Amino acid sequence: MKAAHSQSTKTLLLWTLSLLIAFSPLMRSSEACGVSVYWGQNLAQDGSLRELCETGYYSYVNLAYLATFGCGQKLALNLTDHCDPASGGCRSLSTEIQACQNRGVKVLLSLGGNNTEYQEICTAEDAKKVADNAYNTFLKGSNPDGPLGDVSLDGVDLDIEYPGSMGHWDDLVRALASYRSPQRKVYLSASASCSYPDTNLGKAITTGLLDYVAVRFYDDNLQCSCYAGTARILETWNKWSSSLPEGNQLFYGWWPSSNAGSQCKPEVFTNEILPVISSSPDYGGVMLREAYENVSILYPAAACCNTAGLHRKESLISVL
Ligand SMILES: *[C@@H]1O[C@H](CO)[C@@H](O)[C@H](O)[C@H]1NC(C)=O
Ligand SMILES: *[C@@H]1O[C@H](CO)[C@@H](O)[C@H](O)[C@H]1NC(C)=O
Ligand SMILES: *[C@@H]1O[C@H](CO)[C@@H](O)[C@H](O)[C@H]1NC(C)=O
Repeated sequence: MKAAHSQSTKTLLLWTLSLLIAFSPLMRSSEACGVSVYWGQNLAQDGSLRELCETGYYSYVNLAYLATFGCGQKLALNLTDHCDPASGGCRSLSTEIQACQNRGVKVLLSLGGNNTEYQEICTAEDAKKVADNAYNTFLKGSNPDGPLGDVSLDGVDLDIEYPGSMGHWDDLVRALASYRSPQRKVYLSASASCSYPDTNLGKAITTGLLDYVAVRFYDDNLQCSCYAGTARILETWNKWSSSLPEGNQLFYGWWPSSNAGSQCKPEVFTNEILPVISSSPDYGGVMLREAYENVSILYPAAACCNTAGLHRKESLISVL
């Protein structure tokens, strides 16, 4: 190509890119794309919340977990050894949470987890009560005596792994979504078991009210196991992708540091899985079970378009 040509091609490209960036809120696929991570269950791995957000690699942090709720139980956080919520020891997290939010990271409260402190939601009225309490305590703001101090979290994540906890999760999602308004977007997400459909959250997912669903491809079963080959994993991804309600996004749940034998190794994940799933129309990003020291490997051009913008802009500039 001649020099003059390549110059005008560059100018055209620049214009196209600025238009794309300017109108990106209108484009569904770029809205929520990024990496989400759970924080709270592994002191050694997690590091501090502030440092996690300062890496610039995460778009969503799920505080794990609001472990006690439902059927009349008082809401209670469990952030393992990070701090003791019962004595007010977690209130100092508010400044770190705000620092994350100031960087554009969305901080969500994750309900549930792989524990037995919660079991289910008993009735539709109970769902409404849990939603109201969770909203008033963690999302509404102006509550300095709350367990996390004066914070206004961005949304709620459901990670309902307690076996056979079937009750009223769809009612809970509807009750939480009722707090959405033009002034207030309440992010809603779920972590789903890899086997489709998720026995606990299936009905909640089909409400279509979730912004994204993160499928746990680290569950130890054949449909998700790297032993069975990546073709099998991609088949499961496609099943989820084709059944997800219109407008919702799909995240791939990955646990790189897990010792589970079925877990895909980083090179297999980045070479064989990520390039394929990231071209799905509903691809939203990668969910990490916990902070990952090599998270940067998720950011080659094809991988993800990170809402935080930093890496995205860097990669655009390097193209030009
Ligand atoms: C918090 O969760 C951890 C891990 O699931 C558990 O070992 C611990 O007993 C829980 N703490 C409280 C106070 O319930
Ligand atoms: C959930 O907890 C059980 C019992 O502690 C454990 O055997 C299982 O591996 C855990 N699953 C995940 C995905 O962490
Ligand atoms: C991170 O990357 C380094 C260098 O490639 C590697 O030695 C290390 O094992 C990786 N850590 C994890 C948890 O994958």
